Amino acid sequence: MCGIFAYLNYNVGRERRYILEVLFNGLRRLEYRGYDSSGIAIDSDLAFFKKQINGGGGAARGEDSSWPSPSGSAPPLVFRQEGKIESLVSSVYTEVDEMDLNLEESFNVHAGIAHTRWATHGVPAPRNSHPQSSGEWNEFLVVHNGIITNYEVLKETLTRHGFTFESETDTEVIPKLAKFVYDKAREGDQTVTFAQVVTEVMRQLEGAYALIFKSSHYPNELVACKRGSTLILGVKELTDNKNRRALFHDVKSLTKNGQPKELFFSSDLCAIVEHTKNYLALEDNEVVHIKDGCVSILKFDYGKEKPASVQRALSVLEMEVEQIKKGHYDHFMQKEIHEQPHSLTTTMRGRLKDHGVLLGGLKEHMKTIRHSRRIVLIGCGTSYNAALAVRPFLEELSSIPVTMELASDLLDRQGPIYREDTAVFVSQSGETADTLLALDYALENGAMCVGITNTVGSTLARKTHCGVHVNAGCEIGVASTKAYTSQIVAMAMMALAIGDDRISTKARRESIIYGLSDLPNKVREVLKLDSEMKALAESLIDAQSLLVFGRGYNYATALEGALKVKEVALMHSEGMLAGEMKHGPLALVDETLPIIVIATHDACFSKQQSVIQQLHARKGRLIVMCSKGASSSVCPSEFCRAIEVPQVIDCLQPVVNIIPLQLLAYHLTVLRGFDVDQPRNLAKSVTTQ
Ligand code: F6R
Repeated sequence: MCGIFAYLNYNVGRERRYILEVLFNGLRRLEYRGYDSSGIAIDSDLAFFKKQINGGGGAARGEDSSWPSPSGSAPPLVFRQEGKIESLVSSVYTEVDEMDLNLEESFNVHAGIAHTRWATHGVPAPRNSHPQSSGEWNEFLVVHNGIITNYEVLKETLTRHGFTFESETDTEVIPKLAKFVYDKAREGDQTVTFAQVVTEVMRQLEGAYALIFKSSHYPNELVACKRGSTLILGVKELTDNKNRRALFHDVKSLTKNGQPKELFFSSDLCAIVEHTKNYLALEDNEVVHIKDGCVSILKFDYGKEKPASVQRALSVLEMEVEQIKKGHYDHFMQKEIHEQPHSLTTTMRGRLKDHGVLLGGLKEHMKTIRHSRRIVLIGCGTSYNAALAVRPFLEELSSIPVTMELASDLLDRQGPIYREDTAVFVSQSGETADTLLALDYALENGAMCVGITNTVGSTLARKTHCGVHVNAGCEIGVASTKAYTSQIVAMAMMALAIGDDRISTKARRESIIYGLSDLPNKVREVLKLDSEMKALAESLIDAQSLLVFGRGYNYATALEGALKVKEVALMHSEGMLAGEMKHGPLALVDETLPIIVIATHDACFSKQQSVIQQLHARKGRLIVMCSKGASSSVCPSEFCRAIEVPQVIDCLQPVVNIIPLQLLAYHLTVLRGFDVDQPRNLAKSVTTQ
């Protein structure tokens, strides 16, 4: 679970300082994916390198290296640092200063790679950070997102061939394998292209990965490939603008019709959007080779010795730069919470009709979905909670039994999934390893697989049979907020579409559609509770623990509210089914433990009233979330605090109710002095099991 980024420029004469800043900015955009450590590799040049050699010392050579380097060209400079991106930035500037490296030097051609890490194999430390190297002279350097599952076997083999390893990472085998492949070819006097080296490496690798390679044997070239993890190529400006149309046809024709001036690789679109809107999401087993400004794409196939050359069309990115900036907000989480009236609007845009919904992504498969014996909703964390919020009315509108699965648990149990099932996979990133493995499992078992994701071009989007894009816009705060509410709305529309053929529920569907169209207004209204939630957070700042009780439609709200508080405010917090209160949790209740009870008006309201009474009788420190105007009748005493929220149709109430809890988690985090956007030990997309 890491972010990888690369930048190449051709014939635009970029200065080293600019190149560094592009790489750092790329990493800043990807930092939410992992922030334990980071690193970059940039080009040095022979003059600098010789000066280092003659002057003795410096980062460009190993302790007892001899001149010249095996490639004959200056080896790339590698900088790696533990901690957040900004500590890499300051250490790089200090080091280049010490090395006397000219930041104003201009490069006609330059290829830099970068990585931000969330540790899986090996503690966060410079030696475990990327780029990982083939060894002395940095002949091959690699940045990697994903996991190499057979790295131990490869390590053993490479060790037998005399390679030594410095890190505890799975990645280090990759550059070493590249060097091994390269040396072998050269021993046999064969010329070998950079892409050939990489395809040979791919043949040996098992697991999921997106990789970018840089090599001193192939100066000014980059090769990237992927299997499982997402990798995006961004193409900025052709030298020959007359042939700009070619850009939108196929990547191969770029080579004939003018060279791109600047190219980017990135783990996701967030790091590309500020440079270009022309992008390509690579397919599994594709290898992109950039050389002399030409982009060639090869398709790797285990069965064939030679990969085939393929043509791919570039897409135009529908994302604005503002989406990846904080604007006037202090934190991305804060911005994303306040953005929800807008994100919900974009989720519904063009999809709501007076008497139904239009979901183009499901149309072709709707008949199969309607005839399924069961719908299984599958996800992790917040995405699971969003699915749970939708379950009751998906069941109601479809009349199909709906079951829930946490992706990891489904896999642990190898739970039953049948051909007659529709399995719905919910994932903001579309890259969560557990969810993707559960998807593979469901595909193997023949189920109809539907994806609900916020990430166009993600693995989930590509592997499912059909699906709904959430369209909430880029979510950068690690704690999911706007994606949660948009996922609920996307699945609400899915429920409406599935139930569309039933006359008996027509009136109900119409009122849900009306509720959906008015939802952004209601969310705008509930956001006005911001300062009230800040005041509540101030009163809870020293609490050890927080319980949230919900039921029915709002059981999910309780789980999700508690998850938000737990993950960002680092306060122990549990969401509980209120119906279970008497079966254990009641023992915890005393006057010190704050308890939020969600008791907005719906069919469960009277049961929640009795829960409130029971908690009050045990002197619980009560905070009640109720419908607007109901606090005096719902609160049992003046010591009970009320959060009054606008009322909407019962099944959409979770969208409104979660927002005060998101605000509470946000303010608690700020007040407790923790990192809002990058909470301890977490990362945005969990691409490891
Ligand atoms: C919590 C959060 C996580 C994710 C979970 C699944 O705020 O973001 O619980 O929901 O890791 O991620 P996706 O939705 O990307 O599959």
